[in-house]
Amino acid sequence: SLTPTPADKFSFGLWTVGWSAQDQFGSASRPDLDPVESVHRLAELGAAHVTFHDDDVVPFGSDTAERDRILDRFKGALTETGITVEMVTTNTFSHPIFKDGAFTSNDRRVRRYGLRKVLRNVDLAAELGASTFVMWGGREGAEYDSAKDLYAAHERYAEGIDTVAAYIKSKGYDLRIALEPKPNEPRGDILLPTVGHALALIAKLENGDIVGLNPETGHEQMAGLNYTTGLAQALWADKLFHIDLNGQRSIKYDQDLVFGHGDLFSAFATVDLLVNGFPGGGPRYDGPVHFDYKPSRTEDVQGVWDSAAANMRTYLLLKERALAFRADPEVQEALEAAGVLELAQPTLAADETLESFLADTSVYEDVDVDEVAARGFGFVRLNQLALEHAIGAR
Ligand code: GCO
Ligand code: MN
Ligand code: MN
Ligand code: MN
Repeated sequence: SLTPTPADKFSFGLWTVGWSAQDQFGSASRPDLDPVESVHRLAELGAAHVTFHDDDVVPFGSDTAERDRILDRFKGALTETGITVEMVTTNTFSHPIFKDGAFTSNDRRVRRYGLRKVLRNVDLAAELGASTFVMWGGREGAEYDSAKDLYAAHERYAEGIDTVAAYIKSKGYDLRIALEPKPNEPRGDILLPTVGHALALIAKLENGDIVGLNPETGHEQMAGLNYTTGLAQALWADKLFHIDLNGQRSIKYDQDLVFGHGDLFSAFATVDLLVNGFPGGGPRYDGPVHFDYKPSRTEDVQGVWDSAAANMRTYLLLKERALAFRADPEVQEALEAAGVLELAQPTLAADETLESFLADTSVYEDVDVDEVAARGFGFVRLNQLALEHAIGAR
């Protein structure tokens, strides 16, 4: 069905619909939205969850009494609508104190302040029953190579993440950290620019077992990379803890378009992986389908809700297409012919030793390389079938 229901696990950041569209070149084009109203509207549209930065709900600098009052009212909206909070994240990028980053600021006072802000928010995430704690280090980076000791920056980044993970464990919270890579913007260069960089950092953490990834479509594409390939490596590493779906049209500023409004055929491949899994089996993502987009500055408040609905509808349309793609016997035959299913077969036989492999002349000495090289893989035919399914021509 193309009508979103909570079973679809659709989730929205409150900062997405709530963006009043102030940008580098102009002031806000829409009024601020009350997070409580957003929860109600998203519930009506069929979403199951919301996510937020601490400051999206409780304005930066609010005192404890004010914070409690705001959070009580917010929890009331959750109870009324049945919407749950699946992920919480921390704003360590808006206030000028974070202008040189939080965990990697050159100023140690800022690093300590940022860490406390994050730990306070971990408590809130646990209290609200979130399962994922996203860390997007938007200001962790530099404009100038001379401005950072890049060795020390990685040391401090790892120290900060490890400290948060240790805190989660010490409290016994059922919460996992998901790092969100981004190559640039707002910094000239951001640390952990891609999925691969973040995976490599996680591998060196002491508490890396509860640290994984939250890859965003547009962020990988800003680096010229294939988002679906990034998701695949994160899955392979058992580190795909969360996703941020949106749209991006090539290497340029972070567009945060509606899912599918950027590279549509790549979005089809993403949904195919999410709903069908790898052709030969393997780990699956079954977490929330989270959208991190921005309603364009040209849109009014009605346009905000239309664009929120568009994310879900596009996903459901692509889901229908992806299911039909895999169910098509002609596609199965083309996958077979292309060797896609053959790749799941280990290169060495189960009982083969390295010794017997080296002694087997059929592997190397006796191979007719021209005959093997003559095989056509038929990838273009397969891709055309994918395209025809994607556009509903089959
Ligand atoms: C971006 C990012 C952010 C983060 C969010 C989570 O567009 O640069 O997606 O929106 O996802 O701030 O902390
Ligand atoms: Mn983005
Ligand atoms: Mn994001
Ligand atoms: Mn964003």
